[in-house]
Amino acid sequence: MSFTKKTVRDIDLHGKKVLLRADYNVPLDDHSKITDDYRLQQSVPTLRFLLERGVGLIVCSHLGRPDGKPDPKYSLMPVAKRLSELLGRPVEFVPDCVGDRARKASENLQPGQVVLLENLRFHAEEEKNDPGFAKQLAELAQIFVQDGFGVVHRAHASTEAVTHFLPSVAGLLLEHEVDTITNVMEKPERPLVAVVGGAKIADKIDVLKRFIDIADVVAVGGAMANTFLQAKGIHIGKSKTDAEDLPLAKQIMELAAAKSRNGNFVFYLPQDGVVASKVDRSAKTRIVDWSAHIIAEVESYPKRPSHETAVVHEDEMILDTGPFSGAFIAGLLQLAGTVVWNGALGVTETPGLQGPVGPFAHGTELLTEAMTGQFGNRPFSLVGGGDTVGYIESRKLLGAFNHVSTGGGASLELMSGRKLPGVEALENKQ
Ligand code: 3PG
Repeated sequence: MSFTKKTVRDIDLHGKKVLLRADYNVPLDDHSKITDDYRLQQSVPTLRFLLERGVGLIVCSHLGRPDGKPDPKYSLMPVAKRLSELLGRPVEFVPDCVGDRARKASENLQPGQVVLLENLRFHAEEEKNDPGFAKQLAELAQIFVQDGFGVVHRAHASTEAVTHFLPSVAGLLLEHEVDTITNVMEKPERPLVAVVGGAKIADKIDVLKRFIDIADVVAVGGAMANTFLQAKGIHIGKSKTDAEDLPLAKQIMELAAAKSRNGNFVFYLPQDGVVASKVDRSAKTRIVDWSAHIIAEVESYPKRPSHETAVVHEDEMILDTGPFSGAFIAGLLQLAGTVVWNGALGVTETPGLQGPVGPFAHGTELLTEAMTGQFGNRPFSLVGGGDTVGYIESRKLLGAFNHVSTGGGASLELMSGRKLPGVEALENKQ
């Protein structure tokens, strides 16, 4: 156990009113329907644990970034409804998180009852970590439980300041997340392979550096790989890239090269890609092998391809990791003891496509198959949250991985070795 903070197991809860901070920042469609309830599902064990101990439960969360003003688009009302279905008991929705309505709801709350307060970020004081606002929240309860792993990298009123006014402990989800991720980073079953995809290098610079430090293999995919390829002088046509990140890409490649010189370490960039001139299900695609120049069109195989076909054309974009690179990464995973994955390897959402697997999702598919043991080896698999989770959920594969984090930014910060203010603020175990 790496977790050093008190949890709901370490405190007398019986008959108490508990303020629980969750992260119910879930995606909603245009009709305010929740499209992915993974965060809700993962919070249920803590809620049940508390309710079984006769707690009166006041749950609070943020949703989206409403800029400190009430906005019906970001109301937590749909969450109260879904939570009630998941818990199998009523969840009363309270249309404000402070003030008279919140106070009344707390006064009337009986043991075993649950209320969900309206979006904390409808008040600008929340993100300002305002002590007065935190005090108002604290006055609703006798104990504070932090279980919103996805938001503990923020020092906000409901994650930091509130802990100055109430005994403050962790929920079961927070404990499990921090424990699992910390253990993987500190004592992984080796070899440790990190697969990092997604769009911007700048968003993942710290985690890339940490992985170069601790992992045996770092494989890069997704749009961020384009920036690395560009930094190496490879033609990427009109692929998504980030000119501002080019110096970072060079810096990362230098670090990786230095580590490789000192021992067994692989920093892997895609050697081929699936390209098309538009992101569309009907777009004509082709495979470009810009590295080994050995993947020819099937018809002309086994002749080597012409130089022309081994270059991404000016009007083309790299939209997926190619089959050669996908197979290489899947092969590496046959030796892995642990795999940490964050970020898709290609465009996994294609407009106009019914169903989750589009023409540019094959690299990501292959990775999920290799991580979940479909080619033999079954490494310990940790998926850092964010958009990757939506993809895994749409593929109904959540249960196939050892751990799928509910945190996006929070899991990246924890993996990078940063302290999380919402965890630091909780009481230490004696
Ligand atoms: C997330 O989805 O990463 C968390 O809920 C935090 O949201 P934020 O980035 O708007 O603070």
